[in-house]
Amino acid sequence: MNIDAVMLQTLLQAARQAREQAYAPYSGFRVGAAVLTADGQVFTGANVENASLGATLCAERVAMSSAVAAGCRVIAALAVLADTPTPVPPCGLCRQVLQEFAAPACLVIMANLQGAYQVVKHTELLPMAFVWPTAAKQANGKKD
Ligand code: THU
Repeated sequence: MNIDAVMLQTLLQAARQAREQAYAPYSGFRVGAAVLTADGQVFTGANVENASLGATLCAERVAMSSAVAAGCRVIAALAVLADTPTPVPPCGLCRQVLQEFAAPACLVIMANLQGAYQVVKHTELLPMAFVWPTAAKQANGKKD
């Protein structure tokens, strides 16, 4: 996949470090994430759980929201890391949120604490993604 080896390690390290700040008193499942924006900035996030459970935020959405709140609108890569036997994949909700800001060739780096990782295209993780109908029409060159 098309990501610089040094940048890949930078994102994995950033996600590993971010995971240390996870707030996961209910599940005990700590997740870290790191986003690379199109202009080369790195933003991180950790999961933030809530007693309601439903209000829990995944690490990836925290990292993406941080990037967007800083003014970034295009995500080139997203790394996610947890203590799992195999590299952890992002949940469906996070895939849809990534769809909103993903560069056409956006990559997702799934990793675990042991150092295993897998790089896939965002479009492989979320084929046939939902996009707002008017945006989809424009992309297809259609009129109302
Ligand atoms: N979690 C993430 O942070 N990212 C994912 O992609 C999957 C799930 C978190 C949410 C919750 O705090 C815990 O993992 C268990 O679902």
